[in-house]
Amino acid sequence: MRQTFFSDVVAISASHRDNANTEAMLRACASELQKQNIRVRIIRLRKLKFKPCDGCVGCNEKNGCHIDDEMTALHPCLFKARAWIVATPEYWWNVSGHCKDFLDRLNAYWKARATHFAGKKAAILTCGAQPLERTGYAEKALETFFTKMHMDIVGSVRASAENPGEIRTQARLLTACRTLGKKLALELKKPSARSLPRTRSTP
Ligand SMILES: Cc1cc2nc3c(=O)[nH]c(=O)nc-3n(C[C@H](O)[C@H](O)[C@H](O)COP(=O)(O)O)c2cc1C
Repeated sequence: MRQTFFSDVVAISASHRDNANTEAMLRACASELQKQNIRVRIIRLRKLKFKPCDGCVGCNEKNGCHIDDEMTALHPCLFKARAWIVATPEYWWNVSGHCKDFLDRLNAYWKARATHFAGKKAAILTCGAQPLERTGYAEKALETFFTKMHMDIVGSVRASAENPGEIRTQARLLTACRTLGKKLALELKKPSARSLPRTRSTP
C-alpha cells in the first residue's frame, strides 16, 4: 500500500521475521521518543513490496531511481525525517538482506546526500546470535553508510540473542535501547537539529 506519511523519526525494522529481537529493540528505543511527543514511523521492510537495486547506474546521470515501487514511495518520508533508527539482525557477518536492499536503493541519492541526508541524526540497533565479541559487522556496515551520507550517529546498541523474541528476557539490553531513545530525543530538541541540511562536498 502506498502512503506518504511524514514523521520526525523513521524507525526501520530490517528483520525478516515476526517477533524479531531487533524489532523489540526498535520499539524500546522508539517508545522514549513517542513519550516525548516525537512522531515516529515504524517501517517494517519485510512488509514492503520493493525490488533490489538492479545496478543500471542510471542514477549516475539523474538524481533518483527508475524503479517505481513501495520503496520509492517511502523515500520522501526518509528525506523529510530528522532522524533515522535502523534495526537489523546480523546475517552472515553483515546486515540482513532486506537492510542491504534498502541501503542499495538509496544509492540513487548519493549525489544529493548534502540535501537529503547530511545532518540527520542516526541510531543503530543490531542483534546477532554469536557472543558480542564475535559480532559487530552489521553495526560497522551501518556506521559506514551513515558516515558516508554525513549523518550524525547518536549511538548504537548491539545485542546477542538467537530465537525470536528472546531479547525480551534481557532487561538491561532493552534499557540500553530506551536510553538511546532518550539520547536521540535530547538531540532532536537541540535547536541545531532543526537546521537541515548541512552541506559538505567530500565523499
Ligand atoms: C541467514 C541468517 C544468517 C545469520 N548470520 C549470523 C551471523 O553472521 N552472526 C550472528 O551472530 N548471527 C547470525 N544469525 C543469527 C541472527 O542474527 C539472530 O538469530 C538474531 O537474533 C536475529 O534477529 P531478529 O530476531 O531481529 O531477526 C543469522 C541468522 C540467519 C537466519
